[in-house]
Amino acid sequence: MKALVLAGGSGTRMRPITHTSAKQLVPVAGKPVLFYGLEAIAEAGITDVGLIVGETAAEIAEAIGDGSRFGLRLTYIRQERPLGLAHAVAVARDFLADEDFVMYLGDNFLLGGITEVVEDFRTGARHDARILLSRSADPTAFGVAELDGDGRVIGLEEKPRHPKSDLVLAGIYLFTPAVHEAVASIRPSGRGELEITDALQWLIDHGRSVHSSVISGYWKDTGNVPDMLEANRSVLETVDAVQEGYVDGASTVTGRVRIGAGAKIVASHVVGPAVIGPGTEVIGSSIGPYTSVSEDCRIEDSEISGSIVLRGCVLTGVARIEESLIGRDAEVRRSRGVPTVHRLVLGDNSRVQIAS
Ligand code: DAU
Repeated sequence: MKALVLAGGSGTRMRPITHTSAKQLVPVAGKPVLFYGLEAIAEAGITDVGLIVGETAAEIAEAIGDGSRFGLRLTYIRQERPLGLAHAVAVARDFLADEDFVMYLGDNFLLGGITEVVEDFRTGARHDARILLSRSADPTAFGVAELDGDGRVIGLEEKPRHPKSDLVLAGIYLFTPAVHEAVASIRPSGRGELEITDALQWLIDHGRSVHSSVISGYWKDTGNVPDMLEANRSVLETVDAVQEGYVDGASTVTGRVRIGAGAKIVASHVVGPAVIGPGTEVIGSSIGPYTSVSEDCRIEDSEISGSIVLRGCVLTGVARIEESLIGRDAEVRRSRGVPTVHRLVLGDNSRVQIAS
């Protein structure tokens, strides 16, 4: 069995972060979201992985290399334009050959891995495809499945205005080679993409069996900022306390906090769950809970919680930042005269002055 991981696409809902970097590399609890998927695939015993990449190919290759550190053998597959999930399958046709495969969307996060579902697909009753479903309060943002009384999938719709159920397609699919005929037979949707949802519907319409299972654990599509912050919160809940950096006597560190090598906490309070990246300096500040600060940042005389800060950021004299995603090398500095709570989504290399 092979795996196909999708890390192309344009990430319009994550702008400005995705103007300059791949959305799949935004860290959740200090680790790029894409890494969790690759680890889950390796854990499920799959080693042969095709990685779909687009404009951000170079950055993804720099972060992941040949995949050997995950125990994977990676084949990079270039998709010239993000023409849809089924288009990505078509582009990967030669790589996939005539093997079964699991398709994993690189911006999706699933707690608990895929080992069980992969094992079941390999050894259980034979189906042409299998989809994972999750219940959603707002199904209109996803592919939505309709099941019959026996739990068989009878219909699928991509981002319907009037969803027929609250069961949405999580971004993990298991396919036999039957999917290739479906992909070759469908036409682009209204949004101009070759939809995997339509390929699945094609299989159903042509008498093939599409099996589903409903995920009980935590799943998140991290494609927009609030969902990314929520995933960060959930994963931080599972972080262990590790102190590799320096904490001075005037600081307190409460709860589960991971402090990376070379980090310095001086006259500050850090409340877990939180991650402070390697080489980051925290001085006279209050951090957390539910905050991930990446490597080589400097946070001075500031307060931040519920946020993700990417590498190389500088925060000086800002109280207080909440629920924010701050891009690489951004600077936020204090000025005067505005309220004390700020919500920010800053792009890479942004410079912002906030009065407070
Ligand atoms: O997250 C689950 C949802 O993912 C499903 O419920 C939907 O049925 C499915 O269509 C998909 O919807 P999204 O609109 O969220 O897909 P998105 O465009 O965000 O792409 C998902 C991942 O695949 C992302 O990592 C980018 C990558 N991608 C996307 C496209 C369209 C590619 O590599 N190539 C592409 O052509």
